[in-house]
Parts: sequence; C-alpha cells; structure tokens
Amino acid sequence: MSRGYFQHGGVTFPGLLYSPRGLEAARDFPVEDDDVFNVTYQKSGTVWMLEILSLIRSDGDPHWCRSVPNWDRGPWLETVLGLRRARGNPRPRLISSHLPVQLFPKSFFTSKAKVIYTVRNPKDVLVSLYHFSQIFRPYKDPGSLEQFLEKFLEGDVPFGSWFDHVRGWLELRGRENFFCISYEELQQDLRGSVERLCAFLGRDLSAGALDAVVANASFAAMSRNRMSNFSLSPLFILDLRRGPFLRKGISGDWKNHLTVEQSARFDRVYRERVAGLGVTFPWDPP
Ligand code: A3P
Repeated sequence: MSRGYFQHGGVTFPGLLYSPRGLEAARDFPVEDDDVFNVTYQKSGTVWMLEILSLIRSDGDPHWCRSVPNWDRGPWLETVLGLRRARGNPRPRLISSHLPVQLFPKSFFTSKAKVIYTVRNPKDVLVSLYHFSQIFRPYKDPGSLEQFLEKFLEGDVPFGSWFDHVRGWLELRGRENFFCISYEELQQDLRGSVERLCAFLGRDLSAGALDAVVANASFAAMSRNRMSNFSLSPLFILDLRRGPFLRKGISGDWKNHLTVEQSARFDRVYRERVAGLGVTFPWDPP
C-alpha cells in the first residue's frame, strides 16, 4: 500500500483517497445556494460539527445520524468518493471540507451557500493529528512528536499549514454567509453554540429539539454511534486497533504531551505567524 503524497496548488495531499483530478473537479464543483459547508483544518472538530449540523437539520431527531454514516451525510468534497457523493446527495446538501480557501470550489464565492468554519487551538490540533496519523493509513508514520512538531510548524503535513489555512479562511470574516466558531466554544457552551448556529442557518428549533441536538452530539453519544465513530471504516483506511478516532475530546490535552520547551517553540512560531491576522483567540500565548 503506497503512502505517497503529492502536491497540488502548493499543498500536500495523500495519494490514497485523493487525486489531482479529484481536486480539480472539487474546484469546479457547482455550488448551490442552499449548500451548507462544514469547513475545518483537520482535527479541529469536523465530525463533531457534522453531527451538530446533521441534528439541526433533523430537528434533533437522531434517526439520520444513527442510520447513515457521517461521510455520506456530509461527504468530504476533496476525496474522490466524497465528491461523487456530494454531487448525488439530495438538496439541501451538507458538505465537509478541509480544503484551504484557495482550493475551494470557485462557484462558492459568487453563491449564497453557507460556510461554517471551525477553528481549534493548534497545539491540540497538533496532538490530535499526531495520534490520527498513526491510525489513518493514507498518512505517513509521524515519527516522534518532536519531529512531527517541526513538520506541523513548517506546514509539511497533509492539507498544509494550519497558519495558512486559518489566515486564508478568516479573510472571509464579515461576509454574511460565513460563520466562524471554535472547538473551545463548543466545549464551553454547546447549547449556546447550537443556538448561534441555528440563527446563522435560519433554523428555529424548539427547546426540546435543542436539548436533543446537545445530547446526541456529546462525545459519549458519538463514541457509541457506529455511524459517527468510524467503526464502519475499512481497515485499509483507518486502523482502529491502534486507537479510536474519537480519542479524548477535550481542550488542552497538549499539556499532557508537549514539553515546556516544545510549547515555547510553538509559541514563538505562533506569534510570528498569527501576528497581523487582526484576530485574538482564547489560546493566544501571553
Ligand atoms: P482528539 O483527538 O483531541 O480527541 P476532526 O473531526 O476534525 O478530525 O477532529 C477530531 C477531534 O475532535 C478529536 O480530538 C475528537 O475526539 C474530537 N471530537 C469529535 N467529536 C467530539 C465531541 N462530540 N466532543 C468533543 N470532541 C469531539
């Protein structure tokens, strides 16, 4: 099984599941005004947001989430199979993507389709991605955390640099069809976050439906749900014998993994790269 990577538009992609032709087709994907895109840098809470959006769409009824795998409910546009699925799904469509903004479908930028961009403390993204790289077969073995930290900071990982991804997407702030939320906000106040998402999506859910969204999108509920925990994923894609996809589901796990020196090294690069973005995050170093 090849674990080769290829470059497309200056960004690294794994050869398994992705192809240059597929990425070109994604760029030409005909976006509809009622499409809702769930966009993230990987390991920032993509499947969590997908579950929340699926449940909002179903008025809190978990039937859809419990009967259809998440990759079919909100297919990943950039994968060869996900693109096909996204094309075929009935409207209004939920579509997931880790694409950097410059590789996103061109037609989105003249449409009324909505993007929800979820951002997460990049130190937690690093740790989550480090573990994920050990179970996701299309990715190369990450080596030691020390080695992987350097690759992450350089952007020498699939989907490229976290810093570039966030910078690119946050340029859309202020557009009425763009909504940015953090993993940490979801953690701190899931119900309030769901209410804000409903307002953005123009959905009016009853108190009971909101409660049902919150209950069914919990880490425990998703870990139990075979349609959301990736236990249906074939072994050649995801090796769950080496660890679960829904690993810890907490904020700040980086403190259990990075040394004081590694954290300080991260902070130095972070300050340089996030400066000038005109945005403050709760995890910004002092
Ligand atoms: P950890 O590896 O830190 O546990 P993505 O879906 O973008 O790949 O992100 C995966 C991360 O989101 C994993 O983080 C996973 O555990 C976490 N996650 C998924 N569902 C969650 C939930 N309901 N609550 C909290 N975290 C969740």
